[in-house]
Amino acid sequence: MIRKPYERPAMVRNVVGRMNKAGLASGIARRESVEGLSIEKLCAEYGSPLFVFSERRIRSRVREAREAFGRRHPNVTLCCSYKTNYLGAICAIQHQEGSLAEVVSGMEYEKARRLGIPGNRIVFNGPMKTRDELVRAIREDAILHADSLDEIYSIERLAAEMNTKPVVGVRVGVDAGVHPRWDRFGFDLASGQAAQAVRRIAAGGRLTLGGLHCHIGTYILDPGAYSKAAKQIAEFAAEIEKMFGVSPTHLDLGGGFASNNTLGSQYYAGGIAPTIDNYAEAISTALMSAGNGRTRLLPLLIEPGRAIVDDAGTLITTVVSSKSLANGRKGVVVDAGVNLLFTAWWYRLGIETDRATDGLLEETAVYGPLCMNIDCIRESVPLPDLRPGDHLVVHPVGAYAFTQSMQFIRLRPAVVLVNESGVAECIRRAEVLDDLDGPERLPERFKPREEGNRSAPTSRPV
Ligand SMILES: Cc1ncc(COP(=O)(O)O)c(C=O)c1O
Repeated sequence: MIRKPYERPAMVRNVVGRMNKAGLASGIARRESVEGLSIEKLCAEYGSPLFVFSERRIRSRVREAREAFGRRHPNVTLCCSYKTNYLGAICAIQHQEGSLAEVVSGMEYEKARRLGIPGNRIVFNGPMKTRDELVRAIREDAILHADSLDEIYSIERLAAEMNTKPVVGVRVGVDAGVHPRWDRFGFDLASGQAAQAVRRIAAGGRLTLGGLHCHIGTYILDPGAYSKAAKQIAEFAAEIEKMFGVSPTHLDLGGGFASNNTLGSQYYAGGIAPTIDNYAEAISTALMSAGNGRTRLLPLLIEPGRAIVDDAGTLITTVVSSKSLANGRKGVVVDAGVNLLFTAWWYRLGIETDRATDGLLEETAVYGPLCMNIDCIRESVPLPDLRPGDHLVVHPVGAYAFTQSMQFIRLRPAVVLVNESGVAECIRRAEVLDDLDGPERLPERFKPREEGNRSAPTSRPV
């Protein structure tokens, strides 16, 4: 008698979506195309993983924001937050729509200049600006917002050396009910630090007061926080007029509007972000009812980052392997991990499949390709049975994912922009090893010798 080989029994828990108080979760969405282009074809042409951006979506978000504020305030200008996504094409689209550049480093400043943006259309924020960066910003008339008294002193010294009187604004820190408070930036209003900074600028004789800047945080779901911030800034503007006889050149309420992403801790997926109209209403109403007649006419700058570009970015990734974990749970390894999606630490990124699924869905962990345990982009998402080569679509990833991506273990993939005619254009090629190795200098003694002239052992160690 032929005995069949023993097969260990396996028990797998099949879960059809996750239950919440609204019933069963609807399972997995399916998307065969991104911006009307076949995922299969995009991967065949540009490789996987692949970032895909939509020009149409960026333009329509900028226009929506511009109109929302324009309907409520006499003089509003949007700024493109470079750190949110400084791919040249993504910033250029926003500049074509009339946005200024908002930068927080000399590198970002130079990127804006290379896109043809003159200094006087660059808002220079951030807690660190080097001497050279400040010299350039002063010479080119950039819209400077100082972050500390030390920075104001440095600018005063440079002003003396350069024999000029730069216009310098201040970043003001307010309590807008946002927790945790971003209180490490700028000058606290309540404790009098902001007034002290303005006094120094007004009385020091070397500088002229620029704008009052305030950025209360990021992914702020409550427009009411902007009402509070705007009211305090407007009243401070009126107050410094009385106290020091100076008026700011503009008010800048920063960014921080939420995008339609889902926080990791959030119960429901997506769809809870206020509209840009809600934020515009909160800010404009507060500005128009606080301060005085002059502060109400001050130009207003707004620096939304994620609310403009998050939704425009998608990442296509490919399944490398599928496995059963030690506890019977399912896991898949895909070719994009936290090296490209650092944002997966905070957001429950949406994941969709690119094909019809008729089998059961199972709660699955989605791991990246890095040989590190931290590399997980979703701990648990209902997914069908996936095979190597299947694609997953991760969305939204337009904000911060690319700028925070790193060459850790793997190089960065290509980025394409789908233009308004629906045609994909490569806006960043996939990296090659020279992009990583380029700045390295290998001392002569470490360089590999000519073949046949090696002192190192050539046989494999056993
Ligand atoms: C000064 C400043 N402005 C604008 C932004 C853009 O913020 P968000 O992407 O949340 O709109 C940031 C982000 O941290 C910032 O620090």
